[in-house]
Amino acid sequence: MTFKKRTVRDLDPKGKRVLVRVDFNVPLDKGAVADDTRIRAALPTIRLLQARGGALALVSHLGRPKGRDAKLSLAPVAKRLGELLGREVPLMPDAVGQEIARRVRALEPGDLVLLENVRFHREEEENDPAFARALATGFDAYVNDAFGTAHRAHASTEGIARILPAYAGLLLEKELTALGGILEHPAKPFLAIIGGAKVSTKMDVLRSLVPRVDALAIGGGMANTFLLAAGHGVGRSLVEPEKETEARRVTDEVEGNGKTLLIPVDVVCAPSPDEDGAAAAGVFGVDDVPSGQAIVDVGPRTLERYAGVIGRAKTIFWNGPLGVFEVPAFANGTRRVAELLASSGAVTVVGGGESVQAVEEAGLAEKMTHVSTGGGASLELIEGKTLPGVAAIPDR
Ligand code: 3PG
Repeated sequence: MTFKKRTVRDLDPKGKRVLVRVDFNVPLDKGAVADDTRIRAALPTIRLLQARGGALALVSHLGRPKGRDAKLSLAPVAKRLGELLGREVPLMPDAVGQEIARRVRALEPGDLVLLENVRFHREEEENDPAFARALATGFDAYVNDAFGTAHRAHASTEGIARILPAYAGLLLEKELTALGGILEHPAKPFLAIIGGAKVSTKMDVLRSLVPRVDALAIGGGMANTFLLAAGHGVGRSLVEPEKETEARRVTDEVEGNGKTLLIPVDVVCAPSPDEDGAAAAGVFGVDDVPSGQAIVDVGPRTLERYAGVIGRAKTIFWNGPLGVFEVPAFANGTRRVAELLASSGAVTVVGGGESVQAVEEAGLAEKMTHVSTGGGASLELIEGKTLPGVAAIPDR
């Protein structure tokens, strides 16, 4: 896919003060960064701008604070970023204000600071124009590299791009090229593997993918609604009977067009979908799910069928776990799919959330063509929606 937006490569940052929106909304554990993937993903843009003589301030949100909240300070992120860059990254006490504007004006070429959590101000999420102007004070240019937040029309992602000359960062470009590429011209056969708990949250994704794919594999809790629609009992599994008709429609559309639909043929069931249920878990055919048990993972015969279509596919998009992945005993299907993708030789794009976590935990991220840093943003892109943070950047 040709990326039409103006990017950092079109910007000469020398002698300029550049505000860079990054998505440093990372998990914390005991006051430290627990997963620095998103921080590392922003480094190429930061390094490029610094090397070309820009003076940089980074702006991000962390969590969903209601006002100032010390627990959601970006201090642990500043520390981790400093370790990755081998130099201290000062954290400003706020994202806006006179003191911040003074310190921004004092930035020298090559300098790098991090502004405090921009969501400490409710005007950020309101996309308040006065707040966007305050944020822009002292800067000459704006770069958006926050792909994970590109689906939000907030002051630091959308409003500000209407005030300062705006450019896309390298991560934003990479994400849009990879995810947009599989939508626009996937090498065929194109397989999509969609999992996750609820089919209701994935209907728009399915609607967008069904006309484009050659094969669709459904797993996770959402597969239960497809099993129900196909006439199978699902015991005490998580299921959305109100979505049964839609699941049947997807089934008919895929199969009616001569495409392959893979729903589980066997499943792992347990008395409860948690650690307590693990000891009594067993494999059952989908016609024999015990009425008092819940489906918690896909079974071995299902995985064999997955392996067959994965082996034939030239492009694979994967989103969502295939079982109750947070319980290690029920993570087998998800882990196995990560391994199958890694050794497939196809163009493999992993979009968002727990499937990314599974790939990272298995140490297989490097083996994928693209692992997205965006959860909601990657889904909205696949759904065919316009991302406000991208739309606000002018075309080249
Ligand atoms: C994410 O983690 O998906 C992004 O950082 C967006 O966060 P939000 O859902 O709180 O807007």
